[in-house]
Amino acid sequence: MLKDKNIVLGITGSIAAYKSAELTSQLVKLGTNVTIIMTNSATHFISPLTLATLSKNKVITDFFETPSNFEVEHISLADKADILLIAPATANIIGKIAAGIADDFLTTFVLACRAPILIAPAMNERMYLNPILQENIKKLKNRGIYFIEPEVGNLACGEKGIGRLADVHKIIVVIGAILEPVTPLKGKKILITAGGTQEPIDPIRYIGNRSSGKMGYALAEVAQEFGAEVTLISAPTQLEPPVGVQTIFVETASQMRDEVLKIFPCVDIVISAAAVADFSPKEIKSQKIKKTTLPPVIELNKTPDILAELGQKKQAQILVGFAAESENLIANAKVKLKEKNLDLIVANDIKTAFGKDTTQVTVITRDGEVEELPLLSKKETARQIIKKVESL
Ligand code: CTP
Repeated sequence: MLKDKNIVLGITGSIAAYKSAELTSQLVKLGTNVTIIMTNSATHFISPLTLATLSKNKVITDFFETPSNFEVEHISLADKADILLIAPATANIIGKIAAGIADDFLTTFVLACRAPILIAPAMNERMYLNPILQENIKKLKNRGIYFIEPEVGNLACGEKGIGRLADVHKIIVVIGAILEPVTPLKGKKILITAGGTQEPIDPIRYIGNRSSGKMGYALAEVAQEFGAEVTLISAPTQLEPPVGVQTIFVETASQMRDEVLKIFPCVDIVISAAAVADFSPKEIKSQKIKKTTLPPVIELNKTPDILAELGQKKQAQILVGFAAESENLIANAKVKLKEKNLDLIVANDIKTAFGKDTTQVTVITRDGEVEELPLLSKKETARQIIKKVESL
């Protein structure tokens, strides 16, 4: 897939720069044409000669060198590039790109580049998690720049944490996915619900739950990557909806039901990842309840079971539910699958899933196929679920 592609590889001053030798060598083996741009600091970590030998190309290290031919080099290279990969990317280069700074060849090239840009950060965990860096990453993601997350493991500074450059093979797979996206769900419309609904008691209090919305948002992101047209109906979360996903914000179970029912007839697939409250206060006080008058009992009504209603109404749609359980995981999930007339249910133990970035789920189909997935990031879990949905 990558044969004859023009890949520009930007290397910056991180200890992980030595891994760019392996990356270059693998890319060349796949038949790509690799042109390398090194920042000054990168040349302290690995020699341009090593990379020139491996890439079989001249390595660009100095903006002010006399050009070998008299094209404006950063522009001519930008015209040719199919993708710009920056690996490893330091906090410094990410900050400079986010600020639009162009003070060396690589940063100048970024501004001239119309090809997709993929950034693979590598640094100490404290730097990676620093809100300034995270804001810069968010800003660049919103501008359509792709990121491949660093991995968790032993770091060069002796600490353990997130910050290791992503595995070379993973980087190559992501390049392939960007250049030739596989879009098996193209033409399909998916409705995804996410987050935990909030059922008001008075103007400031509500009954809620600990759902973070991360699973539903990851599903929306992956479904979109698979080519689907995604509508996300979200109860309150702290998350930014994925760029390009139409998102409708709701608060209560009843509002979620109204929005879901409006869209349901037009979609092919529904994934109900929201933690919908099962009860709501019978009466919502219009004024704040004072502690002196707090009633000893708050009476509750049952909320509508949205998914069960869809199960009754469904025509050709595929329905996917979640089962949040604290005991008898599989047995309870199977009952929900049947009672709500679902095609697939994702059983998750609330102890390992709620609020976390990782989860361990079991996927059960209508035909009784049970597949236990390992502990994975929610994004990877979302990928496995969407693949299962695709196979249905
Ligand atoms: N669900 C829904 N509407 C509700 C409650 C749940 O659409 N009022 C959906 C959830 O989005 C999930 C599935 O039904 O996909 C199962 O939700 P879960 O909370 O695990 O179970 P409940 O059906 O609420 O049953 P219980 O709380 O008794 O386990």
